[in-house]
Amino acid sequence: MITGNGITKTFRQRGDVLGGREVRALRGVDFAIPRGGAASFIGESGCGKTTLGRIIAGLETYDEGEIGIDGTSMSPLTPKQRQPHFRKIQMIHQDPYSALNPTRTVHQTLGAPLALRARQTGRSRQWMDERAAEVLSLVGLDPGTVLSRYPHQLSGGMRQRVVIARALTVDPEMLVADEAVSMIDVSLRLGILALLKDLRERLGVSVLFITHDVATARYIGDDGELYVIYRGQVVERGPVDTVIADPVHPYTQSLLSAIPVLHGLERPGEQPVVPLESLDESQPDTGCLFARRCPFRSGRCESERPALGATRGVPQEHACFHPERRSVIARPMSGV
Ligand SMILES: Nc1ncnc2c1ncn2[C@@H]1O[C@H](COP(=O)(O)OP(=O)(O)O)[C@@H](O)[C@H]1O
Ligand SMILES: [Mg+2]
Repeated sequence: MITGNGITKTFRQRGDVLGGREVRALRGVDFAIPRGGAASFIGESGCGKTTLGRIIAGLETYDEGEIGIDGTSMSPLTPKQRQPHFRKIQMIHQDPYSALNPTRTVHQTLGAPLALRARQTGRSRQWMDERAAEVLSLVGLDPGTVLSRYPHQLSGGMRQRVVIARALTVDPEMLVADEAVSMIDVSLRLGILALLKDLRERLGVSVLFITHDVATARYIGDDGELYVIYRGQVVERGPVDTVIADPVHPYTQSLLSAIPVLHGLERPGEQPVVPLESLDESQPDTGCLFARRCPFRSGRCESERPALGATRGVPQEHACFHPERRSVIARPMSGV
């Protein structure tokens, strides 16, 4: 189980002579991803998804809050003590082109982490070769064909498979896939998504899927939880299918309305509640972060920040003061 409690992160961007500006990338995020489970973080570009994924994988520091890995809290540990815990969480980046060293063959790429493990556990060279072949087979590549190849001799989809194979060399508990298919040819995307799903089922590895695309979030873990992030805050959280079929927060609704068809789940005639706009950090930071874009806002929304929580009769958690106003307006075609 990987947990986060109140994770906060502010970046101080250096820019002009006045000392730059602060970006509140994460504002007290809570999450819990069970072993073998699936979760998806979704939200517009700049909402903090990658920052959160990097923090979970131990690649970025956080200002406040707590990350727990299988019951062990990371905060009191030294960086060295944290290493074996964070090794259980492997990140798969968006760009399979820059993720692989162009001067290394696939054999060398997989050999580096395997050599480390072999040293630690007193295993042989033969074990390393067998393990390399095994992880390649797990990701659907033929070891005999690809082991001697360099990245430029592989397609984007094959490269991403090699990246996933490299992550598997350390027997991870969780894969964090950050927009893992967005830079891959459209025709190859479904294969990578199916692979992640398959690894979940076969190895019991949990998958955290970070995406701006609801359809892929749903595909990867329809039994998992969807976290909708807006400007560094989780504004809605619940079972993927529940949130997609009946979103409560107006931001989730606008996000979903931008996508007419979701893998067979059509939402005919639905209009965006609020048009999506680019992030504007100069927006006031009091009250609900979404208030300025929200047609349902009241005076309270402008002065007070709604926290993520449950309302009676609503199956998912949400951070909105007026969930009851929504269902009628957001679903004009459903006959209500
Ligand atoms: N290393 C960094 N230094 C300064 N600002 C950063 C850094 N990384 C991310 N940010 C800022 O934090 C915010 C969240 O970024 P990010 O986590 O990459 O969002 P997403 O992945 O959802 O697009 C953005 O405003 C981004 O500009
Ligand atoms: Mg990102």
